Amino acid sequence: MYRTNTCGELRIAHLNREVILAGWVHKARKFGGMIFVDLRDRYGITQLVFNQETDSQLCEKAEKLGREWVIQVKGVVAERSNKNPNIPTGDIEITVSELQTLNPSETPPFTIETDTDGGDDLRMKYRYLDLRRKAVYSNLELRHQMAFAARSYLNQQQFLEVETPVMVGSTPEGARDFIVPSRMNPGEFYALPQSPQLFKQLLMVSGLDRYFQIVKCFRDEDLRADRQPEFTQIDCEMSFVEQEDILNLFEGLIRHLFKTIKGTDIPEMPRMTYAEAMKLYGSDKPDTRFTMPFTELKTLTGGKNFGVFDNAEYVGAICAEGCAAYTRKQMDELTDFVKRPQIGAGGLVYVRYEADGGVKSSVDKFYTPDDLKRWLEQAGGRPGDLLLILCGAAGKTRKQLGELRLEMGSRLGLRDKDRFSCLWMLDFPLLEFDEETNRYYAMHHPFTSPKREDVPLLDADPAAVRANAYDMVINGAEVGGGSIRIHDSDLQRKMFTLLGFTEAQAQAQFGFLMNAFKYGAPPHGGIAFGLDRLVSVFAGLDSIRDCIAFPKNNSGRDVMIDAPASVSSEQLEELRLMVRE
Ligand code: AMO
Repeated sequence: MYRTNTCGELRIAHLNREVILAGWVHKARKFGGMIFVDLRDRYGITQLVFNQETDSQLCEKAEKLGREWVIQVKGVVAERSNKNPNIPTGDIEITVSELQTLNPSETPPFTIETDTDGGDDLRMKYRYLDLRRKAVYSNLELRHQMAFAARSYLNQQQFLEVETPVMVGSTPEGARDFIVPSRMNPGEFYALPQSPQLFKQLLMVSGLDRYFQIVKCFRDEDLRADRQPEFTQIDCEMSFVEQEDILNLFEGLIRHLFKTIKGTDIPEMPRMTYAEAMKLYGSDKPDTRFTMPFTELKTLTGGKNFGVFDNAEYVGAICAEGCAAYTRKQMDELTDFVKRPQIGAGGLVYVRYEADGGVKSSVDKFYTPDDLKRWLEQAGGRPGDLLLILCGAAGKTRKQLGELRLEMGSRLGLRDKDRFSCLWMLDFPLLEFDEETNRYYAMHHPFTSPKREDVPLLDADPAAVRANAYDMVINGAEVGGGSIRIHDSDLQRKMFTLLGFTEAQAQAQFGFLMNAFKYGAPPHGGIAFGLDRLVSVFAGLDSIRDCIAFPKNNSGRDVMIDAPASVSSEQLEELRLMVRE
């Protein structure tokens, strides 16, 4: 038997019990005639004591132990004279009588501590050691608990977990595909699925009624803190439902996760339309832990010969509470922030509402104090507040103001990671127009149904058509999204035409789905949650990488196994990807 107990288990109630423990040497220190070793495993740390006086030979052996050696000890649980209130096992220690080294270890390249001395690259290269750190593996524990709780909820709601293929066909919509050459079909390729979208819809045609899958998805897109090339969805689909049914059932899922994982009851989720969100926050995933909505000032700023505002399509402001006394340096920082290439604003205009009721602004030359006060009033400003104003083309400026709002939220400490603000985002446009390719793209995907009342607009004004699509947003992260699908092949065909597919192209790409719809497709809809994003929101992480066991870096590389890598010319030849000269 390797162990009778784990390193996180023993308490004062186990006093005098003889135990066997196994684990890693976390730390060893000598103190007079005693050697203390912290023995660690996934469950915790238990202190071991070796006493020179009672067994000098054993002590000699213990002295040789190095960090991260794997050992096994036999001993008796004793009460510690010097208790450690910071760990659950801190009242006891093991008086060791036998020690066996199961495996020595080289000195690890960084310390296995919460505050490690290892940099990002080194920790990624030795990810298996990084995962020994509680700060890292606790995220995997949370991930497990969340996936487990989600499965349990969906199981209770009659959902069946069905596996769909990982080797599928490439589709031109959405992100870029990762493709896989087929040896048996030379010159042809599979693609890794960006999501099981088509399969889950086919499962509805099959009559499975309620499907889910915790499933890996693959997208070859530029990586960011909230994006990995392979990530996991809690993917769901249901038949005979309308949008309202889906919102209720999946609000229930998120509520169940908050209750089981965090023990909290979250209030009913507010709903906001896309149009409202863009107008108030310049984003379809606003962080609603704080308000600070936009105020439109265009009508108040005109006619005073300030060309910059007069020529702008949009003039918008946010009101930063209590920031009127911002120093010159702080104002410069904010100006630099909005001028960064990633944000791209031309400049920042401010109005300070001084504590004594006076106003001061960077555009004093053009506007009277009364003018400026009117702006402040419009924005709900009070003495002590600071108005920050951007102007330009409407869409672009709203986005920039949205970034500035988030920055101010962070600076003012309004984005507490332990507070959660959930939101349904509804009524997305069905289509978005791309100037470059001069065509419409589906905003969600081509299978999303238009709102019934907007169908007549499909020909006349496609951009105005709203979709039966919804996203769930928590603390400014889009954690899930889905839609009610088109289940009638005529409407689906029309949608493909709008997206610029010829009949033949639509048949070639999606013929199987359109054919399936001829055989009695039920009305259906679904949603997919990003598990990585959900876990990182629950854990308050800055990047989803931290809740993925073996993530890719920002260049899409796994530096531990060194992938992607080149393959031999024999392999390439076999796949007919290279012809021998
Ligand atoms: P969508 O593309 O919105 O919808 O994806 C659903 C959710 O998956 C997460 N997500 C990602 N997480 C990490 N890295 C990525 N690269 C990444 N891309 C997406 C997000 C997102 O909300 N088939 C549809 C769902 C449906 O209509 O039912 C789909 O995939 O949290």
